[in-house]
Amino acid sequence: MLRRFFKSSIISLSRAAWAQRMVSDWGVARQAASRFIAGERLDQAVAAIEHLNERGIAATLDHLGENTTHGEAAREAAKEVVRALEAIDRAGLRANVSIKLSQLGLLLDESLCRENLEMILRRAGELGNFIRIDMEDSSLTGKTLQIWEWAHSPGGLGFDSVGIVIQAYLYRSHEDICRILESGGRVRLCKGAYDEPESVAFPQKKDVDANFDRLATLLLEGALKAGSPQISTDGRVPPIAAVATHDELRIRHAQEEIRRLDLPKGAMEFQMLYGIRRDMQEQLAGQGYPVRVYVPYGTHWYPYFMRRLAERPANAWFFLSNLIRK
Ligand code: FDA
Repeated sequence: MLRRFFKSSIISLSRAAWAQRMVSDWGVARQAASRFIAGERLDQAVAAIEHLNERGIAATLDHLGENTTHGEAAREAAKEVVRALEAIDRAGLRANVSIKLSQLGLLLDESLCRENLEMILRRAGELGNFIRIDMEDSSLTGKTLQIWEWAHSPGGLGFDSVGIVIQAYLYRSHEDICRILESGGRVRLCKGAYDEPESVAFPQKKDVDANFDRLATLLLEGALKAGSPQISTDGRVPPIAAVATHDELRIRHAQEEIRRLDLPKGAMEFQMLYGIRRDMQEQLAGQGYPVRVYVPYGTHWYPYFMRRLAERPANAWFFLSNLIRK
């Protein structure tokens, strides 16, 4: 109960413009955020990915930003994704790119958002790279899935190189995964980072965890049906199934299911966030599992940082105590 209240309060602060202005200007906040963010510039993110790649870990690069309110900013965000794809290519990195549709203008004008996405997918296709569409709050789930389907299906743009994220806390996710698997889509499964009402999402963590395990199994069964793990050797195109979590029990469940279904280790990718559980990232990579780290960069770090605080009360407490001491 207290945990839920804490999460709701921090997530609502993550959306408040006044709080964003105040926190973004604090040096101590920027310093705290730097644990989770590779830097404000693209070259800093490239350096962070080089370091991960040296340790056998792939990356997904994310230019921070969401809920864009001006058409020009949405177009500029799309151009930055193209610059990121080109930087990955120039540096020969084992990395793909994650994007948010609200950053590309989904809340402003859906056709502008589709236009931006199409431009990104064309460039990613030319460079042999892959784009993952992050999942935002539940007000955008249906729209995000529709746009992914349009981008992926042969009746739409027909790009195989575009994947989607599914959140285990939503009741609808089982059905969504079944549909995505039928069309050969690639899924990143996460628990879900937003504050959702009980009408759409499991309120209890134990139910989210149980659903996560069920959905991870569903994804692996999908991978089994699809045959080969379909992973690219350059570390850019991920397999059909990916789990994004730092929860050891969820990771153990996925590993057990890989063994039970007699799948190769490459059938599932293990994804984690930059700055969280580096020990586990290296351990899994050392055991021969594909590991990918989400590497965010940019100046719009505030909402992303607040979601990281909301996930773990200890983070927020550490941040606040530093703030009080300054
Ligand atoms: P859980 O919250 O139960 O944490 C398990 C353990 O992990 C904790 O005990 C702690 O050790 C560690 N941990 C977790 N969060 C931490 C933090 N912030 N700081 C320090 N330690 C922490 N969500 C979403 O809604 N849409 C999306 O598109 C994505 N995309 C995405 C990509 C990738 C690669 C990852 C790893 C995660 C996401 N998420 C996301 C976020 C996800 O939904 C979820 O909020 C976080 O991963 C935290 O949940 P865990 O699964 O780690 O479990």
